Amino acid sequence: MKEKTFVMLKPDAVQRKLIGRIIQRFEDKGFDILNMKMMKISRELAEKHYEEHKGKDYYEKLVNFMSSGRVVAMVIEGENAISVVRKMIGKTNPLEADVGTIRGDFAYSTPDNVIHASDSKESAEREINLFFGQ
Ligand code: CDP
Ligand code: MG
Repeated sequence: MKEKTFVMLKPDAVQRKLIGRIIQRFEDKGFDILNMKMMKISRELAEKHYEEHKGKDYYEKLVNFMSSGRVVAMVIEGENAISVVRKMIGKTNPLEADVGTIRGDFAYSTPDNVIHASDSKESAEREINLFFGQ
């Protein structure tokens, strides 16, 4: 089933000049990039995006990091895009992420694990709306 998912290249990806190589993987897979923008997100937007993590010990560090520099937000479309993109990014802890995944290949710590992707249909809709409107 064709789906849309929300992907965000985190500030470390932009700073480390990984944008091209990461986007290449989604294009190579055959996915369509429907929308994309580079932006520096406010603390408020970072808090809203990660509101389900409020109260976790890593929350403050996470929202500080996410609002510390430019990100690239995008909408990616393709067959089973939500679960396939999650597979392509790899586990949250990059030290546990398989080699061949984006986090497994490019990251080694949190919260700076290079990339975000929606984990369900509901979060994809919420996040696309939060960053791109309807
Ligand atoms: O990003 P993902 O959906 O894989 O993981 P999450 O559990 O939804 O956590 C969101 C983000 O919070 C992660 O991508 C990390 O940047 C950060 N995090 C962290 O810094 N330390 C943790 N123990 C868990 C998450
Ligand atoms: Mg998540």
